[in-house]
Amino acid sequence: MNNTQDLYKKAKKLIPGGTQLLSKRPEMFAPDVWPAYYSRASGCKVWDLDNNEYIDMSYMGIGSCIVGYADEEINQAVKTAVDLGNMSTLNAPEEVELAEIMCDLHPWADEIRYARSGGESMAIAVRIARACTGRDIVLFCGYHGWHDWYLASNLADDKALDGHLLPGLSPRGVPRGLAGTAFPFRYNDTNSFIELIESHGHNIAAVVMEPLRNTMPENEFIQIIQKKTREIGAILVVDEITAGWRLNIGGAHLMIGLEPDIAVFGKAISNGFPMGVILGKKEVMDAAQDTFISSTYWTDRIGFVASLATIRKLQKHNIPEYLNEIGKKVQKGWHQASLKHSLPINIDGLYPLGHFSFEHTESLKLKTLFTKKMLQKGFLATTAFYASYAHKKQYIDAYLQAVDEVFAELYGILVSNNLDQALDTPVCHSGFKRLT
Ligand SMILES: Cc1ncc(COP(=O)(O)O)c(C=O)c1O
Repeated sequence: MNNTQDLYKKAKKLIPGGTQLLSKRPEMFAPDVWPAYYSRASGCKVWDLDNNEYIDMSYMGIGSCIVGYADEEINQAVKTAVDLGNMSTLNAPEEVELAEIMCDLHPWADEIRYARSGGESMAIAVRIARACTGRDIVLFCGYHGWHDWYLASNLADDKALDGHLLPGLSPRGVPRGLAGTAFPFRYNDTNSFIELIESHGHNIAAVVMEPLRNTMPENEFIQIIQKKTREIGAILVVDEITAGWRLNIGGAHLMIGLEPDIAVFGKAISNGFPMGVILGKKEVMDAAQDTFISSTYWTDRIGFVASLATIRKLQKHNIPEYLNEIGKKVQKGWHQASLKHSLPINIDGLYPLGHFSFEHTESLKLKTLFTKKMLQKGFLATTAFYASYAHKKQYIDAYLQAVDEVFAELYGILVSNNLDQALDTPVCHSGFKRLT
């Protein structure tokens, strides 16, 4: 009996797309094989519904759990909040404590609002920027969630071209009236940014970007973004939902000398409990009062206490330093295994958010087979590794040993021209492009 696969088959009939998050679909990893569901997660271990135990060397809760799953201290803080009452007609005092801590960590910022997920926090930041400037247009770089303001960039004048700017993200259902309100540029591509500034100038409400994702900023990219954005009187919004807390305490923007007007945090700030933070300068954040931004569950106590406990733990153990150290070790291990077994790969990404791709015409088939073979060895693994504090050295060593063995097998399969036969299940999907 296979409870995990059977449940996913049922889910696909009841839930369009099978899951709530594209990145959690088993089709993104290895269709018909990837265990879609977990019964328990602890540290970096996950148990599926058939009681198989895996070490998670993939995305650790799609980037949300940098301390590790079910962390004892964070869970304890949450359990106390539950016992004291997670919700009431009055507000949780911890929201003020978190506001003070966030403003202390970010001396450029004065005020804060909260939400409970990344995409909605970005939508709030964009609304505040539009309210503050009275303008509509948003320039952006990278991925920022599912909301209309963002997908509007995929609405073309010609309907047949809809979707061409952000491949893989369909804008169906987004009002056509929003066409021409959001335009993407690429990270480190100063010219494409300047062209957009020249085309849309004083109609631009906000410039939205991740501080960094795959590589460090080059040349004067960050300085030019900051200067031009200020010159036209637009709001600079930095999305720290995935970059934040991994390279340093606070946001990556602090490391690269980027001073935004608004910074947005989610995912890792609360290590697996729903949370979103919109932090900014007073003169910008005050515009949150000139528009309507309000929701019941943005007040729940768990989000605040989980964030406070997570930040304390990140500080106490200097966790970002550890994530960089092990992320570097993993990238080095991939490189060595690739050379040793003549299996060319491209390695990219900052150390705590590393990924690779097979340099091969059938790269998705190789990726699927890699995942299948790693599952057989007890690892949740794909062509990416998001580092967590729970990834203690013995797990990294065991994982790299398994990668070495699987790369050797993949090489053998390629030289004997046996890829299709070796992969007797469907190929994984390719996902969408982040434009980073
Ligand atoms: C940079 C960035 N912004 C926004 C989001 C959206 O966050 P959420 O999935 O919590 O809505 C993500 C999620 O992957 C992200 O990486």
